[in-house]
This record gives sequence, structure tokens and C-alpha cells, in this order.
Amino acid sequence: MKKLKSVIRAQQFDETTIKEVFAIADTMRAGHFDSEALRGKIMVALFYEPSTRTRLSFETAMLRLGGRVIGTENAREFSSAAKGEKLEDTIKVISGYGPDVIVLRYHEEGGAERAQHSSPVPIINAGDGTGQHPTQALLDLFTIRQEFGRIDNLDIALVGDLSNGRTVRSLCYFLAKHYPNNRVHLVSPEQTKMRDDVKAYLDKYDVRYSEANELDSVLPVADVIYQTRVQKERFKDNPTLYQDVVRASEKLIITPSALKQMKQQAIIMHPLPRVKEIDHAVDDDPRAAYFRQAQNGLYVRMALLKMVINGYQNGSTTARLVTTKTKTARASGHRIAAVENVH
Ligand code: CP
Repeated sequence: MKKLKSVIRAQQFDETTIKEVFAIADTMRAGHFDSEALRGKIMVALFYEPSTRTRLSFETAMLRLGGRVIGTENAREFSSAAKGEKLEDTIKVISGYGPDVIVLRYHEEGGAERAQHSSPVPIINAGDGTGQHPTQALLDLFTIRQEFGRIDNLDIALVGDLSNGRTVRSLCYFLAKHYPNNRVHLVSPEQTKMRDDVKAYLDKYDVRYSEANELDSVLPVADVIYQTRVQKERFKDNPTLYQDVVRASEKLIITPSALKQMKQQAIIMHPLPRVKEIDHAVDDDPRAAYFRQAQNGLYVRMALLKMVINGYQNGSTTARLVTTKTKTARASGHRIAAVENVH
């Protein structure tokens, strides 16, 4: 039985492992899982920054599989970090208690990697500052696959605060390495363009990408509009820049009138939380996929916990799925994706 070790960054994944994550997540989504699979196992949720979806979906995932959860949701205030304890010391102490996995959200880029070096227990990166959010990117890819039946030959627009958004950074790393046949459109205010490290990675894998400051040219061609918020917490030292970026982002809001320019079969995604970058009037349109996307986080995180704690056999879940020919339909019923042969 193979085990997935720590989950730190998107680039660590190979194609076989991603297929296995998706195949196991499919079984979780279909309700075909052992509710005692992680009985007696303990997950630590150690969150130094606020979270709704990541923490609660990981905790729900663990409980659904029969495991238990301990942790703190505001470690900067409620753990001994408030007394000056370094992350490395905290991780060494917690891992000494013998949990099976530590899910860590940290406020600085590189936090998950630092924790990994101090821990014999697997670390799952639940977001490290402006670094990466690999489990979010996996659920994003799972959602695109669910909605289109493929992650190939699509126009994918990433919109918003691209320099500070860790979800879009992880997503680009995955897209470049494993799905280079898509076209990526980077749409952001001039002040928050995608950083050079990600663009160099897109270049390395010959991904076709463009950059823009407005949506007009992108809306009619995009299959996926992946919207993000201005990451307010990253501008604490520069409120003037924050106000400038908020103003520049006004023209990137998805409104009912923007919807009219989009393809009928396109989808709108958002890692959430949303501030005002998607008008609430858009929510009832079947193309609004962000709440389906958030729900997929539960299934993908159930899969990841199972793969980290109990392990998996390459290909076994995929083979079972092909046999049962599971099919899924999106809630609106206007798009049906056969999931059994799609990776
Ligand atoms: N998408 C995401 O990471 O949401 P939370 O900050 O609520 O966990």
C-alpha cells in the first residue's frame, strides 16, 4: 500500500497520484466509503489564519471517515505562538503527541515546508501566506473535470489579485505540469499581476497564456472564469495600494451584464470567500459553479486524508470506477459528465 506523504506544493504531484485523488474523491462523492476507515486516527487542525471552508471541510472529512480532530482555529492568538513560540517548536511538540496528520494554515509563505522539516507526522498545507494552497487547487481541478468531463483544450481565465492569491498560484502549477493543452488568461489589476515564478513555470511547459487588465476580451472565449478577491490581509503595510487595487478591480466584477457576454456552457468558479467580485445576482445562474466547487472540497479532502493516513493502491480505485460506470450530472441538469475515463 502506498501512502501520500506530506502535501506541501502543487509541483510535488505526479499524474498517477492526481488520478488516484480524483478516483477516490469520486467514490466519496458517490457515498461509497467506509465510515470507519479512519477510526482511532487523529487529525490536528492548526490554523494561524482564518478559514471557513478549508478547516471545516477537512474536519468534516475526518469525522465522516470515523477519525477524530483536535486543533485551534486562531493559533496566532490561542496557541503559545502568542507568547512567541516558533512554528518549528510547536510542530515538534504536537507531532510528539502522535497524531496521524497535521493540517496547517500559516500566515507566511514557506510555513508548510518549515513544518515538514520539523515533523515526522505528515503535514498538509492548508494555505501558506501568499505561497500555495494545493488542496484547493486539487478541488478546483476536480470541479473542472466534473463540470466539463475533461481538463483539456479549455480557455481558463484567472481573475483578480493574482500576485497574492495562493489558490491561483497552485492552480497554475498544476495546469502547467499536467494539463498544458489549456489556454490560460491572467486578468488582474496592473499592480497585482501574476508573479514571475508562476509565469516562468507556464513557459517551461509551453502553456499558452495571455495577460490583461480587463474582462471584455476574455468573457466571450472563456470556458472557466476563476474569480478571486483582493487579498486585503496582504496589504496591511500599504493601505494606499490596497485602495488602488480595489478601485482597479471594480471593472473585473462579474455582473449579470458580464454573464450576457459569456458562453452558455462556461462556468464561474471562486475559491471563496467572496467579497464583491461576483454580484450576488449571478448566483442563481447555472454557470455559477462556486458552491458546487466548495462542496467538492469535502470529497477531495476525504480522499487526501485516506491517502495520507491509510494509503492506497495505484489504479485500484480507477479500475473499480470504470466497472461501475458512475455518471454525475450537475444540479441544473444541462451538463452531464461521465467521470469514469476522465483525468
Ligand atoms: N478557499 C478557502 O481557502 O477558503 P477558507 O479561507 O474559508 O478556508
